[in-house]
Amino acid sequence: MTGDVVPAGTGARTISVLGCGYLGAVHAAAMAQLGHHVVGVESDPDRVASLRAGRPPFYEPGLDELLLAMQQTGRLCFTDDIAEAERASVHFICVGTPQRRGQHAADLSYVHGAFADLLKIIKPGDVVAGKSTVPVGTAPRLREELREVCEEAELVWNPEFLREGFAIEDTLRPDRVVIGAAPESAAAVQSLRELYAGILDDCPLLVTDFATAELVKVAANAFLATKISFINAMAELCEVAGGDVVQLADALGHDDRIGRKFLNAGLGFGGGCLPKDIRAFMSRATELGAAEVLTFLREVDAINLGRRDKVVQLVRDWLGDPLVGRRIGVLGAAFKPDSDDIRDSPALAVAEALHLLGADVRVTDPRALHSARRVSPALTYVDDAAAAAEGAEVVLLLTEWSEFVDLDPERLGTLVAERRVLDARNALDVPAWVAAGWHYRGLGRGADHDAGLGAGHGTDHGTGHGIGAP
Ligand code: UGA
Repeated sequence: MTGDVVPAGTGARTISVLGCGYLGAVHAAAMAQLGHHVVGVESDPDRVASLRAGRPPFYEPGLDELLLAMQQTGRLCFTDDIAEAERASVHFICVGTPQRRGQHAADLSYVHGAFADLLKIIKPGDVVAGKSTVPVGTAPRLREELREVCEEAELVWNPEFLREGFAIEDTLRPDRVVIGAAPESAAAVQSLRELYAGILDDCPLLVTDFATAELVKVAANAFLATKISFINAMAELCEVAGGDVVQLADALGHDDRIGRKFLNAGLGFGGGCLPKDIRAFMSRATELGAAEVLTFLREVDAINLGRRDKVVQLVRDWLGDPLVGRRIGVLGAAFKPDSDDIRDSPALAVAEALHLLGADVRVTDPRALHSARRVSPALTYVDDAAAAAEGAEVVLLLTEWSEFVDLDPERLGTLVAERRVLDARNALDVPAWVAAGWHYRGLGRGADHDAGLGAGHGTDHGTGHGIGAP
């Protein structure tokens, strides 16, 4: 993918990208690949140093090579000095909007900080393009602020839909580009259209008002979260009725009005986007006096958090209380495969809860151990699946990395104390594991697969509050 370089065209521009975390670092490198000259502005000097060295402070397949290649062309540089963004004519705001501590609302302090910096260097004719995920109503306020300082500058909102693990591909080959703008901002929209010329051939451009552009982003994430919680609710029904949620999802997915994507039942969603975005969406709807239209998202959140309790309870049912000193092998710490992101990770939440119950939990992950160690230092981390499985009474698959899905059940079986596997992502080849003598348990799968369970299996003790009250 990174070798597939789009040559610098005549429409090359100089742009700045404010905030070089996940979104910004990828956007900056991708825009350089499109042939533009890019100044990435990042306030954290350590992050600037690692980006310059082609070592992003997070794992994203292909990004390190792309960062190095683009810096070598001379079209991409990183700095902590906003003054260097002055030579750019389009400025992208790519800072994070995390959940506010103790609240559901989004924390916009990074957006306001980046914007204040930008106002110091903005000049007539410049375009500011917001990409951060913001509560609806933010963009028009920022535009007003901008035009108070520089009447001939313009602001548009251009939400980003990239997924971690596919970030470069999603940026260079998006499903759609959405630009929200004021009715009188046609020139700014045209400017972005030209900037994205290299990607717009194969993808629709939708020009909307500000509110719609801001809403598309949170509505998309709310829909995806709802789809996952829906199939997880179906998994619960399969548990009590004796169905198989994987077959159910396959059968539903053949209806192309529904589609099979995002119907993988299991431990549920986590990460830095879906959980905080549905909460911020509910919070904003409340501010707008429309809380009741999004109350279903409370349920979506509760079903999702309940999956973590469910897995902990299944382990307790299977091994029998107390768990003190019982060895449990945990495969996965990242919130999803191909990422080292452990923000709101369901896998880490389950590992922590079992640790708090006194279990001897051994966690491994191909990429996320360094970040997991930082936020959950009390857990025991080991280098690989074999070390996690050593002497374990149960092995939990919590993040479906391909290296875990492809494990040889026969070989792993020689290491464990008991051949019990809880496949919390419904990702393993069930017949292969059963044939190797493992007691297999998925989530929402039929009785065929859990013949080895103890008497108490299948009881739903999910509290709907997430882990913390086992
Ligand atoms: C999500 C959206 O998919 C992107 O479109 C969006 O741009 C991004 O948030 C964002 O707002 O920046 P991401 O957080 O990278 O992207 O992760 P996803 O691939 O959406 O997965 C989210 C979670 O859902 C993961 O924990 C994953 O394991 C879980 N999931 C996903 C399921 O439990 N079942 C599924 O069928 C699919």
